[in-house]
Amino acid sequence: MKFKDTATFTNGVEIPRLGFGVWQAKDGQEAYEAVTHALKSGYTSIDTAAAYKNEESVGRAIKDSNLPREELFITTKVWNADQGYESTLKAFDESLKKLQLEYIDLYLIHWPVADKYSDTWRALENLYETGKVRAIGVCNFHEHHLTELFKTAKIKPMINQIELHPKLSQEPLRAFCEKHQIIVEAWSPLGNGKILTDATIAEIAKAHEKSPAQIILRWDLQHGIVTIPKSVNADRIAENTQLFDFELSAAEMAKIDALNEDHRTGPDPDNFNF
Ligand SMILES: NC(=O)c1ccc[n+]([C@@H]2O[C@H](COP(=O)([O-])OP(=O)(O)OC[C@H]3O[C@@H](n4cnc5c(N)ncnc54)[C@H](OP(=O)(O)O)[C@@H]3O)[C@@H](O)[C@H]2O)c1
Repeated sequence: MKFKDTATFTNGVEIPRLGFGVWQAKDGQEAYEAVTHALKSGYTSIDTAAAYKNEESVGRAIKDSNLPREELFITTKVWNADQGYESTLKAFDESLKKLQLEYIDLYLIHWPVADKYSDTWRALENLYETGKVRAIGVCNFHEHHLTELFKTAKIKPMINQIELHPKLSQEPLRAFCEKHQIIVEAWSPLGNGKILTDATIAEIAKAHEKSPAQIILRWDLQHGIVTIPKSVNADRIAENTQLFDFELSAAEMAKIDALNEDHRTGPDPDNFNF
């Protein structure tokens, strides 16, 4: 396994298995510097969203990096208030402008807003068919949302970005997605920083002379889960890339699997205040 390894969508487009998240990176200097550090540390995949209100800073950092566009993989998302067919197309144009990009690699529905997500999906299909995005997918879709979407979708979601970490391992949804060739991507892979003191993870970290964050991210990768840790700290940004010089044993993987408590650090998509 290597830093630049990718997972492949049903359409052949590849997404880096390790990316960089920017939720809660403040617009302006903080987000700009975080993305700049991330690109310098070798990440090529950046995950933002209209709702994070930092697309402009992310776009500036991408531009100033002078990296070839085709070497980067940029994800953004349509926010709940913008869902619906026409409003999604408009929101997409705004994101593109803020990011100063000609196209987006991956465009996602941020949350499954009931009564709207199937129209929103039609807009994503249009953006895909007209070449403005290279891949389309969803976030926070439970199995029942996906099953509902399949009834009207021409193109199946290529990825489902969900809250996923050792305290919320999402095994049933991962199995469902695998059956439908939908790649699973973990948001809050570190439980938003709140699950790093777990004793089992600490013990495994000590054995490998790694940090708890590195153990969790390695667990993602060994499970075939695409992962997008966030940090605004240059040392931690780099630390989260040092995942390729060790391997968790089957017993260690099983120990981490056993930590699941179906515990969410974020909202449940069925009870989200849309
Ligand atoms: N689709 C969705 O609905 C959705 C929802 C939430 C998140 N996301 C995406 O997923 C990304 C990741 O999730 P997240 O931002 O919630 O959290 P996360 O990656 O699980 O954790 C980030 C937190 O952990 C800290 N941290 C990072 N690396 C660390 C390390 N090596 N050691 C100790 N602490 C460390 C960070 O602090 P510092 O910054 O101070 O280092 C920050 O407080 C987001 O940025 C966003 O792109 C998507």
